[in-house]
Amino acid sequence: MASTIRSLVSRALPKATKAAPKAAPAAAPARSLATAVETPAGFWDAVKARRTYYNLQNKSSVSDARLEEIVSEALKYGPSAFNIQSTRAVLVLGDKHREVWDVIYDSHKPNMGDAAAQAAQKAKFDAVYRGGYATICFFEDTKTTESFLETMPFLREKFPLWTANTAGIAQYIVWAGLAAEGMGANLQHYSQFHDDNQAAINKFLGVPDSWVGTAQMVVGVPADAGAPGSPEFPKTWNPLSDKFKVVQ
Ligand SMILES: Cc1cc2nc3c(=O)[nH]c(=O)nc-3n(C[C@H](O)[C@H](O)[C@H](O)COP(=O)(O)O)c2cc1C
Repeated sequence: MASTIRSLVSRALPKATKAAPKAAPAAAPARSLATAVETPAGFWDAVKARRTYYNLQNKSSVSDARLEEIVSEALKYGPSAFNIQSTRAVLVLGDKHREVWDVIYDSHKPNMGDAAAQAAQKAKFDAVYRGGYATICFFEDTKTTESFLETMPFLREKFPLWTANTAGIAQYIVWAGLAAEGMGANLQHYSQFHDDNQAAINKFLGVPDSWVGTAQMVVGVPADAGAPGSPEFPKTWNPLSDKFKVVQ
């Protein structure tokens, strides 16, 4: 069974290619989620299958209990600076998932511009966020960070970067973990756009003010697993030679 799954996943993924050093950014090869898997894909399959999906449906390829487990495991096994475990998450399901996007829309509306811009944003909120199956709201708990910094105040300057890294790692584990099980996701940052958005989200979810929102991840089965990203802006890869070197 495992080999069938591996072959399903590998068929869905492109073969690795060497980046041409001087070439213009290459158009992304078609990639798709590890759909039709009966057990999660392997680590690298999941890394390659994880993409941004804006065409999410109100459907899940896994049970709510499994969604809960994926987020819990990411919070448990994700590393954090000095193991302070500052990352928090709320899995928002069912009507609450739709309502949280209404709350975000309402708080963000004054920043959207004129009525036409608001209507365009409404259509986007309905299709891309509200239309998904669930939302995972991520936070960093400043109370945890602050109490650690009392013991090591000289690290204060470094901590914004380290907590951002910690948050990103947890989000990535969830994002790739979901992709391994046929779920698409997109990552939004409305809590950071405006303090009002942050306050509205926390109030709606009933979480403390010390939880500072780091991202809102919308999840669901994509309408077309072979169509990640935005069709107008296909993903490109800059030459690896600009980004990586080996020193020996
Ligand atoms: C730190 C970070 C912030 C991002 N913020 C947003 C965002 O606010 N809205 C959005 O639609 N996508 C956001 N994205 C998704 C990126 O646009 C996307 O990952 C990138 O274009 C590469 O595409 P891929 O995810 O399909 O590999 C973010 C990604 C990262 C890593």
